[in-house]
Amino acid sequence: MDFDELIERRNTHSAKWDIMEEKYNISKEDGLPMHVAEMDFKPPKVIQEKLGDLLSHGFYGYFADYSNYHSSIKWWMKTRHNWDVGESKIFTVHGLVNGMALCVDAFTSSGDEIIMLTPMYHAFFNVLNATDRVIREFPLKLEEDKYILDFSEYKKLLTGKEKMLIFCSPHNPGGRVWEIEELKEVAKFCNENDLLLVSDEIHHDLIMPGYTHNVMAVAAPEINDRLIMLTSNTKTFNIAGAHTGNVIISNLDLANVFEEKMKTLGLSPNTLGLHMATAGYSPGGAEWLDNLLLYIAENFRIFDSGINNIPGCKAMHAEGTYLAWVDFSGTGMPQAEIKNRIETIAKITTVYGSVMGEGGEAFMRFNIATPRSRVLEAVERMQKAFKDLQ
Ligand SMILES: Cc1ncc(COP(=O)(O)O)c(C=O)c1O
Repeated sequence: MDFDELIERRNTHSAKWDIMEEKYNISKEDGLPMHVAEMDFKPPKVIQEKLGDLLSHGFYGYFADYSNYHSSIKWWMKTRHNWDVGESKIFTVHGLVNGMALCVDAFTSSGDEIIMLTPMYHAFFNVLNATDRVIREFPLKLEEDKYILDFSEYKKLLTGKEKMLIFCSPHNPGGRVWEIEELKEVAKFCNENDLLLVSDEIHHDLIMPGYTHNVMAVAAPEINDRLIMLTSNTKTFNIAGAHTGNVIISNLDLANVFEEKMKTLGLSPNTLGLHMATAGYSPGGAEWLDNLLLYIAENFRIFDSGINNIPGCKAMHAEGTYLAWVDFSGTGMPQAEIKNRIETIAKITTVYGSVMGEGGEAFMRFNIATPRSRVLEAVERMQKAFKDLQ
């Protein structure tokens, strides 16, 4: 595995590389895309080899027999996350935005309120805004440049109409890897207020050295009756286009409701996605991931120190994910000016914090999962774009 290798991705229908012009007015010739959460690394050899086998066989029919797929998930969750999935029902969905949308559809009704701890992954807002559910933004608290949960405040915000809390663990965009006590607090809040808890753990394998991801189902088993776990390895192995994720539910009543919802929508999984995901959940996938994490940690170190050298800019310390969350409030500049410098001068695409809900307004999110030379280039461009502040 050579994470330094620069691989041309332009003109491949890439949502990361081929959308810069249309969305940001940045030419793809010299733009540096850091917005979409996918990496610029090829997936592990085990996945490439599996696809190679399928290609040479030449058949892409419907998928049957989930036993290998399910046992590979169970093996991975046990060995990497100390989670015994056991007899919980595993539903394969078209990715986790789809998984979240299905949960909203299956378990809530028109007018129900859904809590999001903001800032939060923007695509969930897109889904909820398209429904007739009500989004309730309960902001995370910034304490010493770190997000923490603030349940004494959240209790005051409750109306009694809330049905579900969507939790992001590890946290996108802030990169928090929540501690067991924090997860227990989330569980307690949901238990006390009759909320279903949807725990989106898509970034659970992307944990920086020194931190440990705690699976909600393990950290707070007292919530399992009202818990819906969302997991996948599409972020882990950079196979987002495989569109394969899992909704894992231990409460059989909830599982039955979810199963009915899937039936009414005629959903069935993608054969290639299932083969790719199964191949990744393996010792070969694990070895690749261990190396990737060291590479990402160094990318974070370089990016953060370069950004933190710009007066008024502060990259939040990421405990997980490959997303750098940068606070520009210290520059005193309005968002339009910050955007202008990043896009017109640095020619970098980012996700605007303003689309991630309350608390994100002064931030921009940068994806640093790209070869080191591009991270260095990004730092150089950013320092130039804000050079009058040096
Ligand atoms: C927290 C979180 N959940 C879900 C997703 C998207 O998942 P999928 O591609 O499986 O729909 C992302 C992608 O960036 C994410 O960051």
